[in-house]
Amino acid sequence: MQVETGRFITLEGGEGAGKSTQAKLLADWLRERAIETEITREPGGSPGAEEIRKLLVTGEVGRWDSLTETLLHYAARRDHMTSRIMPALSSGRWVISDRFFDSTLAYQGYGQGVDLDVIGRLRALTIGAFKPDLTIILDVAPETRRARVSGRPGGEDRYERMTEAFHARVRNGFKVIASSEPERCVTVDADLSIAEVAAAIQGAVAQRLGFRAG
Ligand code: TMP
Repeated sequence: MQVETGRFITLEGGEGAGKSTQAKLLADWLRERAIETEITREPGGSPGAEEIRKLLVTGEVGRWDSLTETLLHYAARRDHMTSRIMPALSSGRWVISDRFFDSTLAYQGYGQGVDLDVIGRLRALTIGAFKPDLTIILDVAPETRRARVSGRPGGEDRYERMTEAFHARVRNGFKVIASSEPERCVTVDADLSIAEVAAAIQGAVAQRLGFRAG
C-alpha cells in the first residue's frame, strides 16, 4: 500500500505574531478533519536542534557574527528536517512548523545583512529543493509586537532585545518574500483577533491545499 505524503505548512512572522497559538488552532482544525498532524518549531523541533536553539535565543545580542548565526540556524534546520519533518511527511502525517527557512532570510538576510545569495546557497546545500506546500506569514505592527512580547519566560529573548530598526527590516523582509512567492505564501494581518486570524488561515489552507473549509 502506498502512503500518501503529508503536507508541510509553515507559519512565519515577527515577534508576538501569535504563531504558536495559531499553530495549535490549525492542528486542531486539521485533526477534526481526520488529518494526522504534528506541530513543530524552529529553531528546534528535534533533540539536536533544540540544543542549538539555546545558543541562538539566549545570551548577548552580539554573541555571534551574522554568518555564524546563519550557519547555526541551518545546522539546526537540517537536523530538524532529516530527523523529524521528513519521516512524518513520508508516513502521511501533516506537519505545521512554527517558523522555517523564511525566518533565516528575513532575520539573518534582511535583518542582519547576510548576503541573500549566500543564504540561498546554504539553503540549497543543506535542504536541497525541499520547501513548504504553504507558508502563512503573520504580519504584525510594531505596536502590537511590543505589547505582546514583554515578559516571555525562560530568558529566550535574545532577538526581542534587538533594535526597533532590526525588527522593521525583518517585517519588510517578510513582505518581500510574500510578494516574490505568491504561489506559496499567504499574508494574514496578525493585528486581528485570534479567531479572525485562525479563520483566515483555515481559509488559505482549504483553498491552497484543496479541501473544503467549514
Ligand atoms: P520563536 O520566538 O518564534 O520561538 O523564535 C526564536 C527566534 O529565532 C525568533 O526571534 C526569530 C529567530 N529566528 C531567526 O533569527 N532565524 C531563523 O532562521 C529562525 C528559525 C528563527
